[in-house]
Amino acid sequence: MKRVLTGLKPTGNLTLGNYIGAIKPLIDMQNNEDYEILLFVADLHALTIYQDPTLLKERVKKFVAMYLACGVDPNKVTMYIQSKNPYIAAISWILECNTYYGEASRMIQFKEKSKGSSNFSIGLLTYPVLMASDILYCDADLVPVGIDQKQHVELARDIADRFNSKYGMTFKVPEALVTKVGTKIKDLKHPEKKMSKSEENPNGVISLFDSEESIIKKIKGATTDSDNLVYFDEENKPGISNLLNIASVMTSRTINDLESEFKNSGYGTFKNYVAMVTAKKIGEIQSRYNELLNSKEVDEILNKGLDVSINLAKEKYELVKEKVGLSD
Ligand code: TRP
Repeated sequence: MKRVLTGLKPTGNLTLGNYIGAIKPLIDMQNNEDYEILLFVADLHALTIYQDPTLLKERVKKFVAMYLACGVDPNKVTMYIQSKNPYIAAISWILECNTYYGEASRMIQFKEKSKGSSNFSIGLLTYPVLMASDILYCDADLVPVGIDQKQHVELARDIADRFNSKYGMTFKVPEALVTKVGTKIKDLKHPEKKMSKSEENPNGVISLFDSEESIIKKIKGATTDSDNLVYFDEENKPGISNLLNIASVMTSRTINDLESEFKNSGYGTFKNYVAMVTAKKIGEIQSRYNELLNSKEVDEILNKGLDVSINLAKEKYELVKEKVGLSD
């Protein structure tokens, strides 16, 4: 059995792009008996830039409820909030003392975010070390991440290797599982770009919290070419291909099947269909979400997950302290 660890930063929005690229693959994974999954909200990581305290608190709860509403099964997945497990930040400090400034400052994300200023928090530099702690405290085997986080998982591997050779075997060396280039949902207004959670133009992005009306409006307003023929061709027809991808995921129908139904019907009819199936699916998720948000279930699930996480982390922290000479 492999332990899979996945972290979710509670910033920005949760979009259809996140659903298709991250949430759905996780749900597929939870049914595979070879995997034991831990899913946590990386709220400490969110603090590298200022967050409105009230909004942060709300968003953490909302994101957990939304993951559950989408179909994450709490009987199969251990869910917890990072900051509630104090051992993670404690282990992170010891890992920081085993990480070179040079390697941390070479991280691409750090370089991009710190460019042109020195008034950024040091947390931006140590961000990937905290991420290494998230991964290493629980001896994760696999870490599913987008390509932008792969370098951080590699740093976690280097830190684990270095610590193990300095102090003796302590951490399992994890592997990144880079999200396959499968269906990538694109921005509705700029179908050459991915649908990101922090996109400036909200008309191109469908949020999982959007109203039915707004989902329909956004899909009907999606940018397309003008030849009025519905078929899949990502290069020449990125807008229509994106809508075919969305419809296919929302309905579990194949692209071929959709193409043959809409081949002769023109964009208006096709867009109506995509709008309707998307609004329906997200509407169903939202009903479950609203039920969850107003129940005690979410807190119960998180408390149970936290127990599991704390037991693992406490044991690892004791071992780490003993290795470096901090035990009594
Ligand atoms: N840095 C990740 C992101 O921005 C979130 C994250 C924090 C994470 N800790 C992690 C992901 C540990 C995987 C494993 O998306």
